[in-house]
Amino acid sequence: MRRSYRRVPAVLLLLLLAGCSGGSQSTLHASGFGAQRTEGLWWLFFWISVAVFAEVMALLGWAVWRRRRPNARIRGGDSLGMVTVLGVAIPFVILVVVYGFGLQDLNALASPPKKADVTVDVVGHRWWWEVHYADQPGAVTANEIHIPVGESVRIRLRTADVQHSFWVPNLMPKTDLIAGKVNSTWLYTDKAGTYRGQCAEYCGQQHAFMAFRVVAEPPTVFHSWVTALATPPARTLTTAQQHGLQVFEQSSCASCHTIRGTTAAGTIGPDLSSIGSRWSIGAGAAPNDAGHLGGWIANSQTIKPGNAMPPQPVAAQALPDLVAYLQSLK
Ligand code: CUA
Repeated sequence: MRRSYRRVPAVLLLLLLAGCSGGSQSTLHASGFGAQRTEGLWWLFFWISVAVFAEVMALLGWAVWRRRRPNARIRGGDSLGMVTVLGVAIPFVILVVVYGFGLQDLNALASPPKKADVTVDVVGHRWWWEVHYADQPGAVTANEIHIPVGESVRIRLRTADVQHSFWVPNLMPKTDLIAGKVNSTWLYTDKAGTYRGQCAEYCGQQHAFMAFRVVAEPPTVFHSWVTALATPPARTLTTAQQHGLQVFEQSSCASCHTIRGTTAAGTIGPDLSSIGSRWSIGAGAAPNDAGHLGGWIANSQTIKPGNAMPPQPVAAQALPDLVAYLQSLK
């Protein structure tokens, strides 16, 4: 029995180390200019905490040592001096230094390192993100934001319902989306890559599945992506995909979703013009593959209970064609 207790510290250490692995969605693996500032502040706080902890432990040890040696008395004046230095002067210096660094970082985070070249409007919904490229009318997508590497991107944030919070831990600290207000933040990174973002303000049942991705890519790749998003290329559809499009336009799908270049122009749900290339369905609720897409259309409530989309009465024979059509929208 006593032996198993010896393993407790090892288990705790393993759990701690497990928290350090990965780097996806972590403020401690900063890849963006904004997150680097907060990462620096985090480490400053950490090392100050370590120093304060060591100081308290040393004082505790000293008190125990002194109690065991009744002859090692100190005078009243000495203990008053200790209280003044350790209990007042040092905490005062720490607070002033931390406050100073905090103000410096707040100031640095207020505006991007370069003038913003791209503006993205992001609207929070329960529970997904609507994304519009302000400079390119028609460039609309959901739960996925592409940004050019080495350029500042201004993000304007609104909410369609309750309060949400826009957070890409590896790139930038949180900014809240508040009803009746347009808040703004920015993203800037020199590293190409895919960064996970997450709603960071509890907004109801599916708050956890209000995730998104930020894809940072070379400017030329980004600009051709956003242009293709605004004006989808002409597609040659297979017979099955053509039938799928027909089903989409004639069913209730079209009254909630938009697919540019078709008669579907609904604005209640996410724009589906590029659904085939997105990383997930339901803002992180399921992988974007044929099986999950079919299941989502038939009854998304089994995958993401409480979301706004009711089960769809699509005939079983028509479902594979509808899925094939949606998957072709890249
Ligand atoms: Cu939106 Cu939590």
